[in-house]
Order: sequence, then C-alpha cells, then structure tokens
Amino acid sequence: MAGNSIGKEFIVTSFGESHGKIIGVIIDGCPPGLQLSEADIQTELDNRIPPQPKIVSARIEKDIAKILSGVFNGFTTGAPICVIVENKEADSADYHKIKNLPRPGHADYTALIKYGGFGDFRGGGRFSGRVTVALVMAGAVAKKLLRKHDVDVLAYTSAIGNVKLERQVTYEEIRKNKYENAVRCPDSSCANEMETAIIEARKQGDSLGGIIEVLIMNVPPGVGEPLFDGLDADIAKALFAVPAVKGIEFGAGFKAAILKGSENNDDFRVRKGEISTLTNNAGGVLGGISTGMPIVARIAIKPTPSIAKKQRTVNLVTMENASISVNGRHDPCIIPKAVPVVESAVAIALIDHMLRAGLMQRIVKKEHE
Ligand SMILES: Cc1cc2nc3c(=O)[nH]c(=O)nc-3n(C[C@H](O)[C@H](O)[C@H](O)COP(=O)(O)O)c2cc1C
Repeated sequence: MAGNSIGKEFIVTSFGESHGKIIGVIIDGCPPGLQLSEADIQTELDNRIPPQPKIVSARIEKDIAKILSGVFNGFTTGAPICVIVENKEADSADYHKIKNLPRPGHADYTALIKYGGFGDFRGGGRFSGRVTVALVMAGAVAKKLLRKHDVDVLAYTSAIGNVKLERQVTYEEIRKNKYENAVRCPDSSCANEMETAIIEARKQGDSLGGIIEVLIMNVPPGVGEPLFDGLDADIAKALFAVPAVKGIEFGAGFKAAILKGSENNDDFRVRKGEISTLTNNAGGVLGGISTGMPIVARIAIKPTPSIAKKQRTVNLVTMENASISVNGRHDPCIIPKAVPVVESAVAIALIDHMLRAGLMQRIVKKEHE
C-alpha cells in the first residue's frame, strides 16, 4: 500500500486532491446492518466548517456527501462503502504563480522531491487540509458504529496560540457547548478570546496553532494489540495522518517524565464490583491496551503554513534564494476545522481495534422481505 489506507479490519482508503474533481473515501470492513444515510455523514461534514468567515479560508465548499456503494435499503451491506464530495470552489490561479516557490512549512518541497514534479501541486494536492474531508466521512461511519456500544468520541479546542482554556470542563459541557461557537471551545468567554486572537493574527498576515483535547468515553478494557499495534500507537498513527499535527500526548503525557512513580501511577480500586483507577495519568491505555478509563489525548497543531507575511524560500527553477507571500485562500488557524477531523481519526483507529477484539456485535436480519 502506498500510504493512503489505514486499518486492519476497518480499512479506510482516502482518495482525491484539493483541486481535483472529488474527495472520496472507501471503507472496507464495516459490518452489515448499520443504519446509514447520507444525512449521517452530512452532519459531521457540516461540523467541519466553522460558521465564522473571519476565521476560515474564503474557499467554502458545500461538501454534499454522496454514498456510491455499500448501503442498500438504508443499511450497510458489508460491502465496501464509497462516499464522495465534489470540489466545486477550487481556484488554482494563485498556485500556478507560486509553483516554483515552495511554501515554508507546507509539503510543496518534500512532495516535489518525492513525486519528481508529477504531483498535483494545486491547493497542496494530496497534502491539503481538504483531504481531511475523507477522514470525516469515514469517521461518521466509525462513530455511528461506536455509538452502538455507547462509546463516545469527543474533541474540543483547549488552546489557540496563547489563549488557553485554563479551567476543567465537564463531559456534559463539552458535549453541549463545543459547537455553540466557531472555535469549538466549550467555554464561551474563552472562545471569544480565541476568535479575536485568530482575527488579529490574520490581520497581521500571520496564523496561529493550538491544542485539541480528545476524550473517548466507555471504551471497554482489553482493546489493543501488543507491541506495534497498541491502541495508543494506532490512535497516534491515525492522528498523524491529519496534516499539521505535530504532537500527541496521552494522559499526563510529557508531564509524566517529571512525576515520581508514586505520583504518576494510577491506583486500582474496586467500585460497585468493577475495577477502575483513582487517577488517569495513563490516559486510559496501559501496554497499548485500554484500561476501561476514559482515553484522554492532547494534540498539538501547528500554525497554518500559508501566510501573507513575507517569508524566505527558494526558486526551484533558477536555484536562487527568493521570497514568498502567500495570498491565496487559507485558514488563519487550522484548529476549528480540525476538531471533528480529530474525532474522526480517533474513531477510525478505535473501531478498527474494537472489530479486531471481536467486540462489535453481528447484526442479523430477523425477517426477509
Ligand atoms: C483542516 C485543515 C485545514 C488546513 N488548512 C490549511 C490552509 O488553509 N493552508 C495551509 O497552508 N495549510 C493548511 N493545512 C495544513 C497543511 O495541509 C499541512 O501543514 C501541510 O500538508 C504539511 O503537512 P505537516 O504540517 O503535517 O507537515 C490544513 C490542515 C488541516 C488539517
């Protein structure tokens, strides 16, 4: 495989380019009998576009999901599911102008080296944030399967630039409030500050990064494989497929390095006949296997590479130093769009492991019409 697929039982293959005809996904391994409609996928796709033009790229695609295969009479059949959206608002002019000037921070240079100049550079081609639409479409199916087992994946914005959500937010607050504002932060006053920070950065021709936190509730203990296929390792792999992700930590994460064993270990207790831990520094995973506690991860996303501010680059034809100011349509901050993308990537990795653990019930049709 050339890197466009992920998973062993729930295999997700992404295809399409930013300025090509479509963005699509094939999901192979979804069990039969899941009720699935285009509306299920549409809801997730709509969440990907924050409703505030000042903090997103001027390229607004409607992204209408079309299911092309794998669903019959409203239920998944067990055959590969293909879902696509059309690219309708692409404008490639700006990319032709900077074709020989690789954008610092973007994948233009590395893609050119790897594909010998044959890659589709328009809009970043396969390296565009737009390809995350494929993850979101597959994530919609994964999340629906997970919900059948009461597993809930919830991501939210916890920092943008220097603006941090300092207080603890409850699961209910996140669920209720995160889509109430454009930056996907469950605290409305913090959300306002984040929005202002993004608008300010954009005015200065710059961009901001930030942190997304993700919680996965109700994962049964015992999910994950040893060594190379640990649950945390596979979640991290799926998350690193999201462009601009630069770091991931589970539970106490990097802070665990400065704690003592007695501080970092999560003591076990029996409560109402069930085993749980008093703390969750492990972030819900031990030895690559779920503990049954919430899985908690934080994801660092870098500032958008394409910025209007002048930067130094090289001219690949003349082999001279040059400068670039990227003036096309770009997100001044990736975080707001990335929140449902992060949820999707995590849901895809988790459902793959739940299927591998034999935990998804087989649905059998009771009557034959
Ligand atoms: C949802 C989303 C939207 C993005 N939007 C942009 C954008 O408008 N402009 C840009 O230069 N990069 C954008 N990116 C980031 C680039 O695609 C990414 O930085 C680039 O492919 C290089 O990959 P790397 O940062 O993982 O090394 C976006 C990423 C995501 C996930």
